[in-house]
Amino acid sequence: MQTEQKAALREQALERTEHPLKIFSGNSNAELAQSICDYLELPLGRALVGKFANGETRIRLEENVRGCDVFVLQSMCEPVDHNLMELLLMIDALRRASAFRITAVIPYYGYAKQEKKTAGREPISAKLVANIIATAGAHRVLTMDLHSPAIEGFFDIPVDHLRAAPLLANYFRENLDLHDVVVVSPDAGGVRRADDFRSRIGTGSLAIISKQRPEPDRAEILEMVGEVEGKRAIIVDDMISTGGTLIEATEYLLKRGAREVYACATHPVFAGQAVELIRRSPLKQVVVTDTIPVPVEARDHKIVLVSVAQLFAEAIARIHTDRSVSELFT
Ligand code: R5P
Repeated sequence: MQTEQKAALREQALERTEHPLKIFSGNSNAELAQSICDYLELPLGRALVGKFANGETRIRLEENVRGCDVFVLQSMCEPVDHNLMELLLMIDALRRASAFRITAVIPYYGYAKQEKKTAGREPISAKLVANIIATAGAHRVLTMDLHSPAIEGFFDIPVDHLRAAPLLANYFRENLDLHDVVVVSPDAGGVRRADDFRSRIGTGSLAIISKQRPEPDRAEILEMVGEVEGKRAIIVDDMISTGGTLIEATEYLLKRGAREVYACATHPVFAGQAVELIRRSPLKQVVVTDTIPVPVEARDHKIVLVSVAQLFAEAIARIHTDRSVSELFT
């Protein structure tokens, strides 16, 4: 980041002095929280975020937040329930300590796949999680690439919804020959996302895979619409969980004549053996962001990380100073 840009961000961040900007973080993604603070040239808020001997989460804010505009960062990655609890208790502590405004910064919003009932006697978990975040005392939410855009409407408080697509598209524009590219949505629900990505890289055709899940966490490909023969395919998805969707789609594309297969996704959930599966797969490269921490040993030429820190820093500075966030994506 240019020094002038950095200085401008910091200036914006400190402009609203009547309600000083403070950033706190749970334990889920300390690296991202620190990078965001570095961009804003702010110290990370001091807080004890630990556990009691009985396993319950223990929180204590170690600095004054009275009258402050506070952003508390937590991704709902593994251990999901524990990270969610840390977030809720931090919000509660901030509210009881008289913070002026509390924004829950949730780079990865978990429980998002359960945003509707697919059978009787199931919960709508994404809605319950939205309810408890607001009940805990959050005034706003800042998040990125919700699994389903409808989740935004589950909140009755303002939600700023960032997109990783410009960053991911930028990576491919700078690092790959985009001649003869086909952008692939690995399921019908992701078509708009894939098409948006295609317009951001400024070239390529579109292919859509239809998949079904015979059981949770198992993907089966049914059919594909679009031509991939002789082309370089880029699969675009919101998250990689078990890696099943990605690997199935890659093998299918190669069978249908794709020359080589790349992929990108916002959230590297990487459940179970996902990293190993990707390593052993014929995928050329997978590009993900740091909404969820990826262990250093998993990052190499095959799994590449693009940081969302600057984008979150800019969004936080804009929210703090009542400026448009959507302008970031025009
Ligand atoms: C599907 O609905 C999502 O967009 C992803 O394709 C899916 O969550 C990936 O999960 P997995 O890696 O377990 O197949």
